[in-house]
Amino acid sequence: MEILIRDTPESVARTAADVFAAHVRPGAVLGLATGSTPVATYKELIFRVEAGNLSFRGCQAFLLDEYVGLPKEHEQSYHSTIRREFTSHIDIDDADVHGPDGTNPDPHAAALDYEKQLKNSGGVDIQILGVGTNGHIGFNEPSSSLNSHTRLKTLHPQTVADNARFFDSEEDVPRHVLTQGLGTISQAKHLMLLATGEGKADAVQALAEGPLSAFCPASVLQWHEHATVICDEAAASKLANTDYYRFAETHKPEWQGFGGL
Ligand code: F6R
Repeated sequence: MEILIRDTPESVARTAADVFAAHVRPGAVLGLATGSTPVATYKELIFRVEAGNLSFRGCQAFLLDEYVGLPKEHEQSYHSTIRREFTSHIDIDDADVHGPDGTNPDPHAAALDYEKQLKNSGGVDIQILGVGTNGHIGFNEPSSSLNSHTRLKTLHPQTVADNARFFDSEEDVPRHVLTQGLGTISQAKHLMLLATGEGKADAVQALAEGPLSAFCPASVLQWHEHATVICDEAAASKLANTDYYRFAETHKPEWQGFGGL
C-alpha cells in the first residue's frame, strides 16, 4: 500500500486526478465512487477535459453502489449524483456509465446482473474509493465478508446519520443499498482511496495500520497488490508511521510513477 499525504484537500484532489488520469484511455474501465470526498477530484478531472488535456472517449464507468428503492431520477440516487457531479461534464456517453439497479424489485437478481456486467467489461482498471467514518468502502459495513460480491446490504445507523446531510431528514435516507462486495472491489487492478478531514483520521489509521479485519472493511486494501491511499494532513493525523510514508514518496524512483506497479 502506498500512502501519500498532502497539505490540503485541494492537493489531494490534484494528486488523485494525476493517478486516475494515468489510467484513462479508450477502452479503460473506470470505477467511480459517490459521496463528498471525490467531488474535488472530479472537478479537477473536468477542468482537465475542458482544457483539452484529457479525454474519456471510449471509457466505461462503473459505480460502487446504489440506494435501493430510490427512483433513478431522484436527485440523491447515485445514478443522478454521478451524472450531476462528474460524468455529464466530461466526454463519456451516458450509456457507458453503469450502476447497480436499485429500482429492481428483485435486488438479488440486480446484484447478480451487476456482477455479470462488471465481469463482461473485462474488469475495472482503477477504482476510486472514499471511506466511511466506520471504515466502510462502497456500502460494505463493518462485518462484511472480505470476499463478498455485489449484494443487498442494510446501512449501519452511523452511515444513515452521516448521509442524512444529503436528504431532507434522516428518516428519508434509504436503509438498504446494493453494493459491490469487498471481493468485487478487490478485483480492480488499482485501488485509490481518498480521505480528507479529521473525521476520517480513525478510519485511515485502522485501514492502513490496524489488522486486516471485516470489522474495518477498508483494511481489505492491505490484501491488494496495488492500493494507493491519498489523504490530507487531518485525515493522516492518527497514523503512526507517517515519517516512513513521506520518506518512501520522497525517494520514489522517477521511473516508477503512480499509475503502474
Ligand atoms: C459512495 C461510497 C461510500 C463513500 C463513503 C464516504 O459511493 O461508496 O463508501 O465513499 O461513505 O463518503 P464521503 O466521501 O461523503 O465522506
